[in-house]
Amino acid sequence: MPKTLTRFVCQSCGRAAAKPLGRCPQCGEWNTFVEELVSAAPARRAASPNGASSAPKPLPHIEGGGEADRLPLSIGEFARVLGGGIVPGSLILIGGDPGIGKSTLMLQTAIELAHLGPVLYVSGEESPAQIKMRADRLAADQPTNRQADSLYLVTETGLDAILQHVQCLAPRVLIIDSIQTVYDPAVESSAGSVTQLRECADRFRQLAKSSGLAIFLIGHVTKEGIIAGPRLLEHMVDTVLYLEGDRFQSFRLLRAVKNRFGATAEVGVFEMAGRGMLEVPNPSEAFLAERVVNAPGSAIAVTMEGTRPLLVEVQGLTSPSAFGNPRRSGNGIDNNRLLLITAVLARRLGLPLGEQDVFVNVVGGLRIGEPAADLAVAAAIASSVWDKPLRADTVLIGEVGLSGELRAVPHTAARLREAKALGFKAAVLPKRLRKGEDLPDGIKIQEARTLREALEIGMANRGDNIAK
Ligand code: TYD
Ligand code: MG
Repeated sequence: MPKTLTRFVCQSCGRAAAKPLGRCPQCGEWNTFVEELVSAAPARRAASPNGASSAPKPLPHIEGGGEADRLPLSIGEFARVLGGGIVPGSLILIGGDPGIGKSTLMLQTAIELAHLGPVLYVSGEESPAQIKMRADRLAADQPTNRQADSLYLVTETGLDAILQHVQCLAPRVLIIDSIQTVYDPAVESSAGSVTQLRECADRFRQLAKSSGLAIFLIGHVTKEGIIAGPRLLEHMVDTVLYLEGDRFQSFRLLRAVKNRFGATAEVGVFEMAGRGMLEVPNPSEAFLAERVVNAPGSAIAVTMEGTRPLLVEVQGLTSPSAFGNPRRSGNGIDNNRLLLITAVLARRLGLPLGEQDVFVNVVGGLRIGEPAADLAVAAAIASSVWDKPLRADTVLIGEVGLSGELRAVPHTAARLREAKALGFKAAVLPKRLRKGEDLPDGIKIQEARTLREALEIGMANRGDNIAK
């Protein structure tokens, strides 16, 4: 029995220390250190996959690597996030909150992929009977179930047993649900601990690289918002996808935050329905479906998610604050951004926000990360203060600066094309200094230098609101 030692490891970045530290010196996170048992025996280091030492080869002599090698995936929204189909030999991490739909999406994917060859779905959380019940529900609308013969299920948490199953079955795709339940008895710490995660993920990485098997690892995000350990896994895998969304809303966004085989920041949009995750091929339309036209406090922003423009409704509401300290609360936008925009509205436009609570909500559970939505946020707040609607057929695009100026944003043409496709007639944009980009016809472009000018154009009743 090897002697065991104790050490402390940061759950966020994996930094080890002899005693628990309040704040991690590496990643700066607070209270992330957990105790771990480590074996005093030197860690096993795997030899290179074929036992021989590696041999450098000239680039043209290396086989594979063509786009044609990707496994085609008919779930278009998923394929887009992966940058096309699935690259053989890739290791893909799918993170997300518990209950958000990771298992559902991966089981659907497994059913889809089964016609290409055997697919092995390893679950450490559900019994095969439970998975089958779900699979029957998901595949209910498929005319034949001929693919089901190549989809194999097993409930297993032992790493060696899983690797053995892979050897016997030689699947083309392996799905591990979840990496936190996989356990290597040679590592003396509990399943889900940092050491286990790192060791098991590393073994799967070697397996993927040596065999050309595509492996999906599902990982839960803990309540602190870090995938328990998976920040550590992010650098080991080829692709990191997060499934996000509001649990109480049906939209789910699958977002690539790292992808060695495609563009990052790409998103796929799904809707959780009774028969699993349905693709939403036209998300802008879906996000605007419940909009009340001509309601005060509602503005339409065009935000880029990867290469895809999305139209979303931003709602603002102001109400007198009950206590001395007015609140600013944003759902779907960054709170610092909201503070900045309310400050600019108060100082540069003289809006009486000093004794008003300000609430902003992005409809549909989307989170806007880019400043191009600033103008829409500002307009939604101003429209609520004045209790006057914005023009219903106009989208608002632009970053707001501290002096109240409007700043240019990238991808204007793509944003305008999407707005036009959804029937919008006009757009308010920052004044363009360089006229390089070809903007589409058929949508009226109204340029503004400042937030004040933009609001004058965007309000349905022009102009008479703004304090001069
Ligand atoms: P699940 O895929 O188990 O989540 P995760 O693996 O991320 O923890 O999804 C669980 C939720 O999805 C659960 O609340 C029920 C819901 N759901 C549907 O709404 N429709 C369906 O067809 C399925 C299978 C699940
Ligand atoms: Mg699950």
